[in-house]
Amino acid sequence: MSAIDEIKQRLDIVDVVSGYATLQKSGRNFKALCPFHTEKTPSFFVFPERGSWHCFGSCGTGGDIFSFVMKKEGVDFGAALRLLAERAGVTLVAKQKESAVDKEAERLYLINEAAAQYYHHLLLNAKAAEIARRHLTERGISKETIDSFQLGFSPDSWDALCQHLEGRGYKRDELVSAGLVIAKEGGGFRDLFRNRLMIPIRNEGGRVVGFGARALDGTTPKYLNSPQTASFNKSGLLYGIDRAKGAIREQGLAIIVEGYMDVLAAHQYGMANVVASMGTSLTQKQVGLIKRLTRNLTLALDADAAGDQATLRGLEVARQAFSERIAAIPDWLGGTSKLQGNLKVILLPRGKDPDEVIRERPEDWRRLIDEASPLTDYFFKAVTSRLDLSNEGGKSVAVAQLLPLISEIADSVERELYLKRLSQLVGVDEKTLAGKAAQLRPTERERAKRAVSLPTTQAPSHPLEEYCLALLLQRPGLRDRSVALSPDYFEGTENRELFLAWRNTHDAEILRQSLDVSLHEHLDTLMTRVLPLASERELETALADCTRRLGEQRLRRFKALEEMLISEAESAGDKNVIKEQVETLLQKALEPTAQLKDLFEKGKRARKGARQ
Ligand code: UTP
Ligand code: MN
Repeated sequence: MSAIDEIKQRLDIVDVVSGYATLQKSGRNFKALCPFHTEKTPSFFVFPERGSWHCFGSCGTGGDIFSFVMKKEGVDFGAALRLLAERAGVTLVAKQKESAVDKEAERLYLINEAAAQYYHHLLLNAKAAEIARRHLTERGISKETIDSFQLGFSPDSWDALCQHLEGRGYKRDELVSAGLVIAKEGGGFRDLFRNRLMIPIRNEGGRVVGFGARALDGTTPKYLNSPQTASFNKSGLLYGIDRAKGAIREQGLAIIVEGYMDVLAAHQYGMANVVASMGTSLTQKQVGLIKRLTRNLTLALDADAAGDQATLRGLEVARQAFSERIAAIPDWLGGTSKLQGNLKVILLPRGKDPDEVIRERPEDWRRLIDEASPLTDYFFKAVTSRLDLSNEGGKSVAVAQLLPLISEIADSVERELYLKRLSQLVGVDEKTLAGKAAQLRPTERERAKRAVSLPTTQAPSHPLEEYCLALLLQRPGLRDRSVALSPDYFEGTENRELFLAWRNTHDAEILRQSLDVSLHEHLDTLMTRVLPLASERELETALADCTRRLGEQRLRRFKALEEMLISEAESAGDKNVIKEQVETLLQKALEPTAQLKDLFEKGKRARKGARQ
């Protein structure tokens, strides 16, 4: 039995949920005011026998204990797993296999965490920290923000931190490796950070890996950051990601700003999907962190720096990382698809950073985000403003720089619009440009080359779901045929997580990295499952078949919920309320595609026919 199954078996969903909502018994089930949205009559149900929950109100979603904790705590699957494992008293295997490297990293995390606590305590209590408290107050940073980001103050002393941490059993050497204490020229040691506002920087798992430290007395540099250590590498981190990732996932949009202060202001004003690149130009790794969470990224650029080389380089990195083309897929419930990578740019008002915009007029910030322009538009502006398009040289540079971008655009209508624009700019025939652009597009084969193969293990528990995932994982060509699948087709927790991760990336390596280690074994099993089918047609048929049957299973699950609710309504007497809820539920279940419903009905008739 996997740890996930064991946790599910040991924990009662009713106990877990009642930590967050006041449950009322309702027949065999429980109901409550939905903990995810505001409502006056309860439309949130917990079904203990199935180990599931469902909100029939405006959320219209449901799931198991894992998805509940993920949603409620705003954490990813791995974190929810660890939380629940601890609660259930289940030991996770990956934790036991800690290598020496992990142990060393763990030690660095602990030291940094201890330092963060010390600095935070001083900020709240020390007399000397008045200068820092005043700075924060003047900038409108609230107590909640100070606490939730664990802001701190480093005293104006040569060795206060060193003394404190040595007193807690950390060795001088370790403090040096953590970058908190440095060797003085001419012998001796000293604390690195003195008389500064301390901003702990956490990785995506929420562990403190280093600090940004702002001068409070005009000393330079304005920000002193932790030096590169085994746990701290600024170019692979995004400030605020630990607190932003839930919101990024939920809203399907990440916003990258430059500064620590910008993140603090954004979060304080309720815009929690904001992270900071910490002043460096964007790196592949940073974009990779975002790509695990969403396909939509908006970059907030400083108007002054907007055209400069470092900025353009960062944008190019982001563009390349987002350029895996994804078929234009209509969203499950008819909205716009979040699958198409959407990279946008907002230009800040000259001389202002997000922190100021947000504090002065939060609605201006929201408007900027809403009106963000596509990266391609921005590149057009940035490239052409630096070129003289009246001469041949300038024109050919414009084509060389812009055509690859255009060729990457998935949507053919959009692609043509940009081709037309380029054609007008440089006076080259649109057809000629289109031909060139087509040559630049990678072939299906090139994209399919990325599969990895790994050893097999473990027997499946949701065979159909797993067969379907094996198809998708091993045959990239099928991606375009997977339109009808959605996460709630997968009842198995591991399968659903895998599907979500697969949907977010074409890249096998990124897929792997984005998954919690507890899911790697499952991934490996599916990646190496032998699939006897060979021809493209057979594969397509197999996937279509799977999709239909998974759809049926999903409808059946809804049907079972419906029956449960109806029988409950009858015994409880509040038939009308429940009936309404059942109707919304059914509508949701049947909405997906009329076609699927059709197939379902047909399948039912066919089976009935066979029985008679
Ligand atoms: P800013 O100068 O815009 O900082 O640099 P800020 O966050 O807006 O800070 P305030 O508003 O002046 O207090 C943007 C980011 O660049 C990095 C930091 O991450 C900073 O948040 N930076 C800047 C450094 O690392 N070192 C520096 O000396 C300056
Ligand atoms: Mn600022």
